[in-house]
Amino acid sequence: MLIVNKISKRYAKSKFGFKTQYQQVLRDISFVIKKGESLGIVGESGSGKSTLSRLILGLEKPDSGNIHFNIDDSSSLQISAVFQDYLSSVNPAMNVSQILLEPLHIQKITIKNPTQLIDDLLDKVGLPCHLKKRYPQELSGGQLQRLCIARALSCYPSLIVLDEPTSSLDVVNQLKILDLLKSLQQEFGLSYLFISHDLQAVTYLSQHIAFLYQGELIEQIPTTQLSQVTSDYAKSLLNAF
Ligand SMILES: Nc1ncnc2c1ncn2[C@@H]1O[C@H](COP(=O)(O)OP(=O)(O)OP(=O)(O)O)[C@@H](O)[C@H]1O
Ligand SMILES: [Mg+2]
Repeated sequence: MLIVNKISKRYAKSKFGFKTQYQQVLRDISFVIKKGESLGIVGESGSGKSTLSRLILGLEKPDSGNIHFNIDDSSSLQISAVFQDYLSSVNPAMNVSQILLEPLHIQKITIKNPTQLIDDLLDKVGLPCHLKKRYPQELSGGQLQRLCIARALSCYPSLIVLDEPTSSLDVVNQLKILDLLKSLQQEFGLSYLFISHDLQAVTYLSQHIAFLYQGELIEQIPTTQLSQVTSDYAKSLLNAF
């Protein structure tokens, strides 16, 4: 359903006289994510992971290549996102209820019973209803990341881009969030693009794994065949596992 075809991206780095120097951040990236499946992208810091997620989300345009969404039913495709930095991805002036309804307001979607939706969303991510009127600074990191996941669900997405969703959490909360994401995926038939430097986390949640090294996808493999990777980078990650 998501088809990414040879996308590349470069950024202006510096200017020498009239000449602009560029940094090639992504090079000919191609992959497919089928409905209900997750692709994990593993790469070290600076390999281009967040740039890739911005391109998929349409926040920036690739210099070349294209991104297609193939939808097999009449419903419109919704993509949403969960980011690493949960604190800066919510508006501190909004309370939990307002944060959850924000995507719907932005898209001018009216719903009959917002209170019911808020209660349902909180329930889905394991947050108690009494947090509804709280503000972000009154929540723990784990609670905030659950809130961000609930917000990502509010517009019934078919794909969620997860950019290091557990990296700012302690180990116990990391596992809880991964479990939550896994059960939500099964319940709603969601597809994930799960981007992380953590091979273990990616393996837990994804049916396919792609290795991003210096802006190139050097290897893609089903998670069940992970032990058969051939590239040096993938092997080194696997050895450290
Ligand atoms: N808007 C931008 N303008 C210029 N350079 C950028 C921009 N965004 C990213 N870069 C550069 O592109 C490279 C890849 O950045 P990106 O944020 O995609 O890496 P990442 O894999 O997400 O790293 P991390 O694991 O640290 O989050 C970096 O060298 C970064 O400095
Ligand atoms: Mg990043």
